[in-house]
Amino acid sequence: MIKLTPPMGWNSWNTFGANINEQLIFETADAMVANGLPQKGYEYLVIDDCWSLRERDANQRLVADPEKFPQGMKAVADYVHSKGLKFGMYSCAGNLTCAGYPGSFEHEFLDAETFAEWDVDFLKYDYCYHSPIIPGKYLYRRMGLALENCGRDILFSACSWGADETHEWIKTTGASMWRSTGDIFDTWESVKDLTKQQEKLHPYNGVGCFNDMDMLIVGMYGKGNVGLKGCSDVQYKTHFSIWAFMGSPLMIGCDVRSMNQATLDILGNEEIIRINQDRTCRQPVKLVGTWSGEDLLLYSRQLENGDLAIGLFNMGDKDAYARLNLDEVGLPFSTGKTLEVKELWTGEVSKVKNSTLTWGLKPYDCAVLRAKVVDL
Ligand code: GLA
Repeated sequence: MIKLTPPMGWNSWNTFGANINEQLIFETADAMVANGLPQKGYEYLVIDDCWSLRERDANQRLVADPEKFPQGMKAVADYVHSKGLKFGMYSCAGNLTCAGYPGSFEHEFLDAETFAEWDVDFLKYDYCYHSPIIPGKYLYRRMGLALENCGRDILFSACSWGADETHEWIKTTGASMWRSTGDIFDTWESVKDLTKQQEKLHPYNGVGCFNDMDMLIVGMYGKGNVGLKGCSDVQYKTHFSIWAFMGSPLMIGCDVRSMNQATLDILGNEEIIRINQDRTCRQPVKLVGTWSGEDLLLYSRQLENGDLAIGLFNMGDKDAYARLNLDEVGLPFSTGKTLEVKELWTGEVSKVKNSTLTWGLKPYDCAVLRAKVVDL
């Protein structure tokens, strides 16, 4: 399976943890459709950990928990597919999953076959309880091969949290995305931390195998499995903008059955999503800027039609002021060119003067600019 742009969808873990069941998944599929999420590009509905029984059956097969999923997983897949969505499941490279259910170690080919029989389209593959002797890259290659040979196109979503230098070997495993950070929590500190962890890994992102900064916390407001303090809408907007800008998969983590308008507006910003889904998937460039607050992050990225994306992210709790010389993005005064920029949250359009872009930002706020090269 080759996925050319970052996968988008929903995953059960952030809000529901172990509290998953058939009804929740059916309602989630309904709500994704009712809220127009598939039209925005959110196509995968993924069930995370805690879906199975604690033991395999007599034939060593994984078994869906009949209390949670009384009709079995094929019925869930059928329902999800009937809504025009794709269906994802979860397993682990270790003996056990992170929550202590059976993992796929030494059962890789059998489990891949089982997922194919259930019409699964996506497999998230975790790294808890893995062998201390067999290197992680071997374990992910095994499952990658098993999936390539299971008779169904299943997207392989590796989740080894960037451990054991994942970036060096992940592209040898058949994975289409790989967790490049530790787990997210619903706090601003977590967003800052993961953004920082990601910085040295930007060169490894690219078409066909995407750095996964973890599921989104937009719209959680402190509720659910990884809900702690929660964040404000401005913080969620900036979090979403960063994940989209960096080319991370966009997997929604809130309860889509009860999203408010602010959450929908953030997750549904088509121009921000267009940057995320840009076909070139080029590397974001960290910019220096000539004067910026300590917590201000400036990034640019070349897009497929000659445009540039410029992201100004105020990670701090004070007003910030960004100043950027266009030299840094390849447009010194001597080129006779400048940028016409559109801010993608407000729609405001302006032209950069004197080769210097300046922008004020409120605490935690951001500006995401789509910039066109124009004559001075
Ligand atoms: C790990 C992963 C999470 C989630 C849990 C499930 O912590 O990183 O994304 O899948 O396991 O137990």
